[in-house]
Amino acid sequence: MGVRVAVLAAGQGTRMKSSLPKVMHRVAGRTMVDWVLRAVGAIEAAEITVVTSPSGTELRDALSVGVASCIQEEQLGTGHATQVALTQFGDLAGDAVLVVPGDTPLLRSETISELVATHVAAGAACTMLTTHMDDPTGYGRVIRSGDGSVAAIVEHRDAGPDQLAVDEINAGIYIFDGELLAAALGNVSRDNVQGEYYLPDVLAIFAAEGRRIEAVLAEAEEVAGVNSQTQLAQVAKVMRGRINEEWMNRGVWMADPDQVFIEAGVQLSPGACIYPGVHLEGQTVVGEGARIGPDTYILDGKVGSNAHVWYGVVRQAEIGDGAEVGPYVSLRPGTVLQANSKAGTFVEMKNAVIGERSKVPHLAYMGDVEVGVGANVGAGTITVNYDGYEKHRTVIKDGAKIGSDTMLVAPVTIGERAYTGAGSTISRDVSDGALAIERSQQKQIPGYADRREERNRRKLEES
Ligand code: UD1
Ligand code: CA
Repeated sequence: MGVRVAVLAAGQGTRMKSSLPKVMHRVAGRTMVDWVLRAVGAIEAAEITVVTSPSGTELRDALSVGVASCIQEEQLGTGHATQVALTQFGDLAGDAVLVVPGDTPLLRSETISELVATHVAAGAACTMLTTHMDDPTGYGRVIRSGDGSVAAIVEHRDAGPDQLAVDEINAGIYIFDGELLAAALGNVSRDNVQGEYYLPDVLAIFAAEGRRIEAVLAEAEEVAGVNSQTQLAQVAKVMRGRINEEWMNRGVWMADPDQVFIEAGVQLSPGACIYPGVHLEGQTVVGEGARIGPDTYILDGKVGSNAHVWYGVVRQAEIGDGAEVGPYVSLRPGTVLQANSKAGTFVEMKNAVIGERSKVPHLAYMGDVEVGVGANVGAGTITVNYDGYEKHRTVIKDGAKIGSDTMLVAPVTIGERAYTGAGSTISRDVSDGALAIERSQQKQIPGYADRREERNRRKLEES
């Protein structure tokens, strides 16, 4: 038996009140449909297609290779959407069709595997996932007959008071015998409150034909569908909890996991310590024993082992082993802090390579710069890298000492072990071991304070 998979994702998602297709909304850094496709990846599907709406170009473009898509021209309901997928599949003899909505990102691969295994073992016409919900509002209710078998699904809007009281709901996730599904879909009508072809109506048809319907009970949390921004936030919170728990199980320490936001593509090492207010996004990698936070945002960053970053914003930048970053630092793309270097308080760096053991401890802008080993950059130093038209590079060689408040007008090179005097504007290269100083001679005016006081006193007497 081969399994064909239809992911239903053509719905308007109007309740999201967003211009983005519903299933393209992100949960922990991945789109909802990506999460669903990953869960489905647990089974060896013969074919996967995502049913999209004509306006779903963005969604179709985002699908990875091996995942096909088809277009449901008009959104006439889940039954109609499934039919569109079936026309793509062609001959279904002997095959099963798994239908999953694109808006259930918490669905686990283990649950899909269990659904398929139950279906195969029972030889059922359909095996569906159901769950009990404290508040089943909005969901289709599972109506069972006297012997306990599934007789029908009744949508919330079509349900009478007795049916509304049922708390077992249809998760919208099923596996069908392909040929029986195709035949039954042909007999589904639009005779309901929404005027749609309901996929779950297939179950009543199967029940009437005396066919076997199996139900697998899932956790309510796992099959929660996202229809609104509120539900998106709730689902994201659960996903965050799962991700954090997984990392803690692997030896990561968290002061308070409720205040830690780690996206799915991030890699952490054992012994990493994560404080509250930390957001790790994209392809960020964190080494062993690194300490991050409080209040730090890292996107596509690399943090070496035993490095320390706090109160920082790091984007596409690398922090070497044992490096110190923060508090209040912005590391912009192309920055590489080599081992045991330092970017201290109120420092901004962009496209800057800071050599081993070199320090930029306070209030500096380091842009388009290459700093050698063991150099020190004084407080208030700025690389003047932009002349209004082009960016230019600054080179600070090994062991150089840049005095406080130095303006380094690029392109400029400061030689090995060279010094610049505090407050200098350096626009020419400084040779190895030299001191470059650029400021006027200090003048001294003796007795100034006394004369100033005297003048002030006279003024007050005259008024
Ligand atoms: C559906 C089920 C309901 C179940 C619930 C579980 C139906 C009629 N109802 O309701 O029994 O309890 O899921 O979450 O199936 N879609 C299309 N084309 C369409 C309509 C929908 O592709 O024409 C897609 C949507 O994008 C979505 C999925 O099908 O991913 C489910 O549609 P949705 O409108 O969310 O159904 P519910 O009202 O949640
Ligand atoms: Ca839904």
